[in-house]
Amino acid sequence: MKKDLYILGLETSCDETAAAIVKNGREIVANVVSSQIESHKRFGGVVPEVASRHHVEQITLVLEEVLAQADMNVEDMDAIAVTKGPGLVGSLLIGVNAAKAVAFAHNLPLVGVHHIAGHIYANRLVEEMQFPLLSLVVSGGHTELVYMKEHGSFEVIGETRDDAAGEAYDKVARTLKLPYPGGPHIDRLAAEGEDTLKLPRAWMEEGSYDFSFSGLKSAVINTLHNSEQRGEQISPENLAASFQASVVEVLTVKTVKAAQEYNVKQVLLSGGVAANKGLRASLTKAFDQMPSVDLIIPPLHLCTDNAAMIAAAGTVLFEQGKRDDWSMNGYPGLDIEKF
Ligand code: KG4
Ligand code: ZN
Repeated sequence: MKKDLYILGLETSCDETAAAIVKNGREIVANVVSSQIESHKRFGGVVPEVASRHHVEQITLVLEEVLAQADMNVEDMDAIAVTKGPGLVGSLLIGVNAAKAVAFAHNLPLVGVHHIAGHIYANRLVEEMQFPLLSLVVSGGHTELVYMKEHGSFEVIGETRDDAAGEAYDKVARTLKLPYPGGPHIDRLAAEGEDTLKLPRAWMEEGSYDFSFSGLKSAVINTLHNSEQRGEQISPENLAASFQASVVEVLTVKTVKAAQEYNVKQVLLSGGVAANKGLRASLTKAFDQMPSVDLIIPPLHLCTDNAAMIAAAGTVLFEQGKRDDWSMNGYPGLDIEKF
């Protein structure tokens, strides 16, 4: 009988310090996330220096906590997986060095994981993957359509050319004087408003799966400023609904088109923006009409940054024989197709 595989995952690429233990790549044994959102709120966004300091304070506590919750020791692990990029370099380095220290002290293999690969593999904690598949990753830092023909193979077929979807949400929210992170606030307002403003949709050139959200963000800001100058009151609900309608329509149409062109069996959603009610409803409706494609949307706590997803991706890489050595660093611009 095959022995169970236990991987300890660490994630510190942005503003969550996280550790998790995953069994056989699919089963969460323990999952601990320490969020810094409260510390960054007053600055209206993530401050890299503040993030690094928090990671230093939290990483050992989070590690101890995950082992305690699992009632296991580091010796029970088969390998340590850690996010090595992309992300904030100072933040990445805390996780990478913690992983190296634990692996070195306990003579365990070390597996560096790409953050987006982690987001995609969060889905495997919900349902087994079926290839070929397409993943839409939408977060504060990323908007990507990734095609996978098999485990460990990632082809980026579309990505944002400017702002990430979550970033656009946060910037629009700031213009409306809503707290950081603004995505959930816009989502809530949007549900109470109507798409009255008919803002632009950035389709890009024919056949492209790339995205662009900065023009839309500027359109929102201009609409708001123009109405203020005219002394008119614009409904924040309608503004939020109009912005959201544009983002959701572009994301849905491109995802559906790519799913058809690449003839995929599954579409996996991930990243913090996967929490968006409008996006969930729109994708669900679209794929209900395509019974050959299975749409998977993980629960929210697995869509936002966590280490279970890093351990899940790390398990597959480990099984494929991929290893990192003591020279592993934090790589802020790591390429998912080459890592
Ligand atoms: O994946 P995540 O936790 O962190 C990154 O890796 O970026 O994503 C955070 C992003 C933020 O921009 C936040 O505003 C956005 O996800 N977000 C949402 C919603 N909930 C979180 N955006 C739109 N609608 C939501 N309901
Ligand atoms: Zn993320």
